Amino acid sequence: MEFPFDINQIFSERVSILDQTLVAGRRSAERPDLQAHIATVIDELGRASAKAQQLTAPITSASKLQSQRHQLYLLKDGESSGGRGVVVGFLKVGYKKLFLLDRGGVHIEAEPLCVLDFYIAENLQRHGYGLELFDFMLQHKNLEPVLMAYDRPSPKFLSFLAKHYCLTQSVPQVNNFVVFEGFFFSNRSGL
Ligand code: ACO
Repeated sequence: MEFPFDINQIFSERVSILDQTLVAGRRSAERPDLQAHIATVIDELGRASAKAQQLTAPITSASKLQSQRHQLYLLKDGESSGGRGVVVGFLKVGYKKLFLLDRGGVHIEAEPLCVLDFYIAENLQRHGYGLELFDFMLQHKNLEPVLMAYDRPSPKFLSFLAKHYCLTQSVPQVNNFVVFEGFFFSNRSGL
């Protein structure tokens, strides 16, 4: 995904972590113009993700990120576009209080880290970038994927979770979240 400004100037790291402040490092904290570019990138990514998932409205935007306690991991390829860099995709996560059903149908209240939105640019899908971004988040959070909940995962994302993390057996829920076999066992100490 290309933009009419220098991506490498805004995002110095290969993976940037953005939150409510919309700041990607010290440079953007001191430069309101760079923050405006960050907002443009997030809005564009959110729109592309919604389109890819056939959603009626984006679930990710700069203003939403500013008002929610979520974290957005943004992956760039700094070498492309004549050295200006391109945005490859993003992964948004956040803690949610959920009422879940365990295997026996017992209601359990939990507050797991949830995957809320995930998108890799169309022309770059199936090149391993999604895995790179997801693994980065897992290391940063020091978490196993089975301990997480997934908000309305798309067929592509379900295939991704099965392929890379062997998550295939979900436990039926009455909400839009998907959790997998092992979630309740592994989360037991935290529930
Ligand atoms: N069809 C089926 N499975 C796919 C596809 C596809 N078009 N694209 C990726 N996958 C799955 C497959 O398991 C694939 O393995 P395979 O090629 O051997 O079949 C695997 O992902 C590839 O892994 P990566 O290359 O690391 O994944 P990628 O970089 O493509 O990122 C992602 C995965 C984020 C799901 C990407 O395909 C994408 O952006 N899809 C469109 C948007 C989307 O559906 N996002 C998830 C929304 S749900 C949520 O966020 C809770």
